[in-house]
Amino acid sequence: MTHTASAHTASAHTTTAPLRVTLLVGSNRHGRFGPVVADWLLDHLRAHDDLEPEVVDVARTDLPTTLARTPEATAALAEITPKLAGADAFVVLTPEYNHSFPAGLKNVIDWHFTEWRAKPVGLVSYGGLAGGLRAVEHLRQVFAELHAVTVRDTVSFHNAGQSFGDGGRLRDPSGPDAAAKAMLDQVVWWGRALREAKEKRPYDDVRDA
Ligand SMILES: Cc1cc2nc3c(=O)[nH]c(=O)nc-3n(C[C@H](O)[C@H](O)[C@H](O)COP(=O)(O)O)c2cc1C
Repeated sequence: MTHTASAHTASAHTTTAPLRVTLLVGSNRHGRFGPVVADWLLDHLRAHDDLEPEVVDVARTDLPTTLARTPEATAALAEITPKLAGADAFVVLTPEYNHSFPAGLKNVIDWHFTEWRAKPVGLVSYGGLAGGLRAVEHLRQVFAELHAVTVRDTVSFHNAGQSFGDGGRLRDPSGPDAAAKAMLDQVVWWGRALREAKEKRPYDDVRDA
């Protein structure tokens, strides 16, 4: 099979260009702890040569839970949707509320559909004793419905408030740093694989049963 020069260039670009990854910050609670973990995570995303990060913070979105396309919703979507649509991959940061993830995070997820499809999702969680792992497992079910691929490894912070000291620095970064590397390497692998696959065979025509 022969390739045209432009097809070859496009494919070479797809193989080497950094992945656009959108970090979705899932907590919007008044007085939330989330930004401390989000800042730590963003440092990892920025330091990764293969990733170009964007942020969507649920606390800065004003989307009605009725899913009504009000003028406020349209304005909010104009901010959020391009950052989801343009992403090659996602990292979702979630706390655990009553053994699941927060309602505000679910609302942002539910407002979108095609933006998630055929893209990888890395999951990072924090909470009390269980470190948000139940929220993570619930999110896997949600993203499967949306044709997104959650990667195996996660990062979780048990009793998160005690893990970070003054200035938002981790008291013992070795475990979380290693977990973040494993999770992000998997996001990059899937992100590259799916981006190349979609170039050859778009996912748009794949239908639900
Ligand atoms: C309504 C509510 C329910 C919670 N439920 C759980 C829970 O089921 N399991 C857990 O480990 N932590 C639970 N927590 C503790 C939170 O995970 C912890 O406070 C975390 O910092 C919340 O994230 P945020 O500060 O960014 O909102 C709960 C907190 C709230 C406010």
